[in-house]
Amino acid sequence: MNYIEVEGGHPLAGELAVQGSKNAALPMMAAALLTPGPVTLYGCPQIEDVDVMCQLLSHLGAQVSRRGDQIQIQAKRLRTRELPKDLVHRMRSSIMLMGPLLARTGGAELYFPGGCVIGARPIDLHLEGLSRLGYQIIEEADGHLHGFRGMEPLEDPGVRRIHLRFPSVGATENILMGAALSTRPVILSGAAKEPEVCELARMLVQMGVKIEGMGSDQLIIQGARHLRGVTMRVMGDRIVTGTYLVAAAATGGHVSLTNVSPLDNGALFTALEQMGCRLVIHERQQRVELQAPETLRATEICTAPHPGFATDLQAITMVGMTQAEGVSRMEETIFENRFRHVEALRRMGARIQVSGGRATIYGKTQLKADELQATDLRAGAAMIIAALCAQGRSRIYHLEHVRRGYENIAADLGALGAVIITKD
Ligand code: EPZ
Repeated sequence: MNYIEVEGGHPLAGELAVQGSKNAALPMMAAALLTPGPVTLYGCPQIEDVDVMCQLLSHLGAQVSRRGDQIQIQAKRLRTRELPKDLVHRMRSSIMLMGPLLARTGGAELYFPGGCVIGARPIDLHLEGLSRLGYQIIEEADGHLHGFRGMEPLEDPGVRRIHLRFPSVGATENILMGAALSTRPVILSGAAKEPEVCELARMLVQMGVKIEGMGSDQLIIQGARHLRGVTMRVMGDRIVTGTYLVAAAATGGHVSLTNVSPLDNGALFTALEQMGCRLVIHERQQRVELQAPETLRATEICTAPHPGFATDLQAITMVGMTQAEGVSRMEETIFENRFRHVEALRRMGARIQVSGGRATIYGKTQLKADELQATDLRAGAAMIIAALCAQGRSRIYHLEHVRRGYENIAADLGALGAVIITKD
């Protein structure tokens, strides 16, 4: 079985360019289905979820070519509207194809998507939103979803109103894409405001969709019958940025990261400053430097939709809290099963109490090396950071989860001075 071996106790130091964002690239790739024109995306991360999306798009009939971080997709004609079950099960973001497929072909056949085991992860908001756009969706007991365009007066000019009772990132993106080829205006309230949603909206605007209110929770969308191809650069990954900054903070290091948009990372930067880190932000150069203090200070964090503290950084930041002096608190409000890293941290010596979605972390503790499993993408990254802080050599198994979102976390951390050996 392949694993990595991490020798703890070395502070991270150096400079690194952050990879492109997984959660921006995936919906942008799905949006390529909305036009017969060529879509070129630069800065795509070379990760497994992007591989799966390429396979799904090819299966549908799009021509997909890839060179390094550049992906070109051209969906001149689609040969099917059915997504294969095995690929859909490999990735939650397969659901992102539903909106564009319905908009382009009037139909979509797929299965309930897979993804990280971090909670129930229903798709009711996606399906309700798409239904409000005039599509009918039938859900079978075995998880098969049939979507098709419903009957409605052809020239009904009325505004469609959709309200999301929770600002779901994926549902907002699916609705944006589902509405892109209809000229009937849509007012979407309760929308997610994550930077990745704004990236998708910017792409759609360049393709010919009119969108008002980008970055706010109310979007007014006016699609067009024909959209054009587009060339875009994918933003830097906020979560990878956070992972490496927290790793530097937890190991007492000093790093400089580029391809970072400081404006998108306010909650993270504030938390790190509260923990005693010194941050120098170079807005124009898209660069941030972090210098860890001698000892981190305890802090309190509650995850929330953007611009709140990202749930994807919760496990990773909790590792930092084990290295902070005093009592820290972490509350998870987005997913109900995202404390799967706690057990392993306790085995390593961390003192963490959990009550429902709240964790209390008593620091600072010297973690001890252990045999660790990556249970999901971000918990896996958290295990690697815990190993960096621990005394001795840890082994981490099931890196396949981590590879879904990080291009090469072992090499990146290695470039910052971590001692990591990959065993295949
Ligand atoms: C996106 O997932 C991200 N994935 C996730 O990143 C991230 O954790 C999440 O947003 C929250 O920020 C991608 O962008 C590809 P949601 P998504 O719909 O869109 C509930 C990572 O580690 N909900 O905003 O699936 C849901 O159960 C991943 O990179 C419904 O109830 O998240 C959750 O509690 C993991 N019904 C909350 O909303 C729905 O129909 C947030 O989910 C949809 C969601």
